Amino acid sequence: TEKQNSYQPLAGKQVLVTAGPTIEAVDVVRYFTNHSSGKMGFAIAKVACDLGANVTLVSGPVELETPPNIERVDVTTAEDMYDAVMSRFNDQDIVVSAAAVADYKPTNQYDRKMKKQSGDLTLELTRTRDILQALGKAKSTQYLVGFAAETDDAIKNGRDKMARKNLDAIVVNDISQDEQGFKTDTNAVEVLTNKGEHQSIPLQSKEKVAQQLWSTLTKEM
Ligand code: CTP
Ligand code: CA
Repeated sequence: TEKQNSYQPLAGKQVLVTAGPTIEAVDVVRYFTNHSSGKMGFAIAKVACDLGANVTLVSGPVELETPPNIERVDVTTAEDMYDAVMSRFNDQDIVVSAAAVADYKPTNQYDRKMKKQSGDLTLELTRTRDILQALGKAKSTQYLVGFAAETDDAIKNGRDKMARKNLDAIVVNDISQDEQGFKTDTNAVEVLTNKGEHQSIPLQSKEKVAQQLWSTLTKEM
């Protein structure tokens, strides 16, 4: 369909956005996940589409409607998300990793219901692969944007993550404040780029944050 917006800095660009949590099974009835709602990633995908991009949205389990004109790929586990993103990476110009990917999964995932025993239970967890770090290693011309969800030393940890994962920019989200972060409709973030830009995006709706984020990124790339 034809795009209404006249300002289209992302026209002709392929953009992939990851969003939402992942779910890692313990057995057939129990699982580990996190509080990510997917709202920030969905807003980033919607605004990219408004700005003219061809958008693929790789989403963990969320209760959100897909914005119009976006190709949505649903995944459940960190491993599913890794495969969905990696298989599409070569076709992308820009990747924004907004998903809250599980860092660990249960080492043993029972395909029956685990029965309780008389004593306590210790569960062993295995590290998942870091999708964004793998993209950072594999990247050629792609512009790579990560998120850093932090409760302490947000800026320093964000800078470290940008360097460690070979990113072009990182969106630092201090989730210790109530109204900015995982479940809310609002957010406030700091955008750092590897060229040394530092932009504060104040508390406002996630869609407005996404607009300012794209405005900063499109100036930088
Ligand atoms: N990420 C990813 N794959 C993982 C873990 C994280 O792609 N297995 C991505 C997230 O989507 C985000 C960035 O890496 O863009 C940073 O995630 P975050 O959880 O803040 O950092 P971690 O590197 O996982 O470190 P920690 O959780 O210890 O802070
Ligand atoms: Ca993590």
